[in-house]
Amino acid sequence: MFALKRFISNSAGGPSYEPVNDDPDAELALGGSRQQRKPLWRRILIPVLFIIALFAVLAGIASYMGGPSPTRRPSSGADNSSPPPAEPWDDIDHEADLPMTDPVALARASLRALRSRQSKTLAQATSRYTLKTGRSPPQNYDKWFKMAQDKKCLIDEYDLIHRDFEPWYQIARIDPKHFNGMIDRGRTLMTINSMGMDTIKIKNGEVHMPRYQGTSFDNDWPRTLGRFVSVLPDMDFMLNGRDEPRVVFDVRAPGAIENARNLTNGNDAFHIEPHPTADWFAQRTGCDPLSAPKGFGMDGSADIAFLRSSSSSDFTTDFWPLLSMTKISPCFSDILYPGQYFYDESWWSGSFEYADNVKWEDKKPQIYWRGMSNGGHIIGENYHRFPRFRLIDIARNHSELVDAKMTRFAESHCTNECDREKVINEYDINGPQSPKEEVYQFKYLLDVDGNTFSGRFLGLLRSGSLVFKSTAFDEYFNDWLKPYEHYVPVLPDLSDMVEKVQWAIENEAEARRIQQTGKLFAEKLMTDDQNDCYFSLVLLEWARLQSGARIADQ
Ligand SMILES: *[C@@H]1O[C@H](CO)[C@@H](O)[C@H](O)[C@H]1NC(C)=O
Ligand SMILES: *[C@@H]1O[C@H](CO)[C@@H](O)[C@H](O)[C@H]1NC(C)=O
Repeated sequence: MFALKRFISNSAGGPSYEPVNDDPDAELALGGSRQQRKPLWRRILIPVLFIIALFAVLAGIASYMGGPSPTRRPSSGADNSSPPPAEPWDDIDHEADLPMTDPVALARASLRALRSRQSKTLAQATSRYTLKTGRSPPQNYDKWFKMAQDKKCLIDEYDLIHRDFEPWYQIARIDPKHFNGMIDRGRTLMTINSMGMDTIKIKNGEVHMPRYQGTSFDNDWPRTLGRFVSVLPDMDFMLNGRDEPRVVFDVRAPGAIENARNLTNGNDAFHIEPHPTADWFAQRTGCDPLSAPKGFGMDGSADIAFLRSSSSSDFTTDFWPLLSMTKISPCFSDILYPGQYFYDESWWSGSFEYADNVKWEDKKPQIYWRGMSNGGHIIGENYHRFPRFRLIDIARNHSELVDAKMTRFAESHCTNECDREKVINEYDINGPQSPKEEVYQFKYLLDVDGNTFSGRFLGLLRSGSLVFKSTAFDEYFNDWLKPYEHYVPVLPDLSDMVEKVQWAIENEAEARRIQQTGKLFAEKLMTDDQNDCYFSLVLLEWARLQSGARIADQ
């Protein structure tokens, strides 16, 4: 489904760029073999047919309401009124209660609890916002609140946005003009070489794209931003269209706030020479994203393929405000936004297009994965530590539990110091493709990083199987979709995967509860409307910082 992306290159004079998450056999897990856009006649014909069908249905309803007819059923009993139109929450709120031992009932109770604790009034939302951040809400928050209520979004669950912006507010208290100064620099820089980024302008409720093509999604932003532009004040924001983080800056490091205002990279601000390595990341950022949760410090960075041998070297070590789809905390300081992969209405989204017709009881108790050999740039033997290669090693030792294959070789990651034939033979890559609906045969599905996040997570959650997620990357929904609640987390080196699959087999009811809760949250909560609410609140914070409002006085 990502095939088209290969042909889109950076038109602003930068190197031709292949998005790092370009994972064509994500299709295997996601369905949607959308090799090209629908032809024009289909794009016109389908809406026209839809409108005709809609009129037919309305006419049918009108005649049904219009008086007795021989086929009309007697109006006694409960079935004389059609159900109300499906709201995302309706079946949560209105369906009869199931016994609380039922995994579906438990999943619904969990979602209902989340929803019912949201602020009900603007005053309540404002007071909670102020308590959390120490600031009053940004300009147009009242409009945002109204929209969020209309779209049935979460109202108070945006702590991740507050965390992402906190360093910028700290700088703004010292120098309120700094943020706008960075936007001015960014605008100039990206006009010279966009490096996969856009500076997008919002003026009088309209979206203005830059004259250059900065990202692969430039045709999509006007539609997506148009969904909520009415709540945005005038502003300019910088958006990274690559599915990788860019801002290598640890805000927790000693002296970081002084360094944040001291820009050192000049006009080549988003490129690192020579190609960064794990040592470079460790020395540069001093951060080890994996050691903390593991007790004694470990060399965790070495297990993150992206930090060992990233597929790109287009990073900055200056502290830039930049919207990105993902980051590794705390080594990167990008501000997260929901990308096109997670908008259902987007051509880029990975939604299922075939029916799940295998019952849980009939699924095989094995963990399944198919995909491309992504992970990072191959240099010598370094690929042995990339997670997808490790996965194949593990599958060979545990074939009764793990069914995993690499189906396509990522040619672009194998250049000078890479023995292509050796890698392909060693890992049996480029074997026969599997039918896409094969995922439904398995109780357990693995979501594992390629070059960065895989982009299939929501699709897998909705599939009806239990998802095991191994990632080093943060995404905007991290506070909502929780480990052990909606999916089973697996360490980035996959060292605990087999024992966790064994746990799922031995703890069927608990595994089923996690699966049901994950599916329900992915279906009911992770909607395009909810994405709008996240994205627009990010932009309200951005707009306030750009305006140079005196934060300290608020
Ligand atoms: C800014 O960075 C440069 C290069 O790293 C350093 O030499 C200089 O001392 C820094 N200035 C301040 C004010 O921190
Ligand atoms: C697979 O088994 C072999 C032989 O016991 C062992 O040397 C190797 O480390 C194992 N590999 C993995 C990834 O578990």
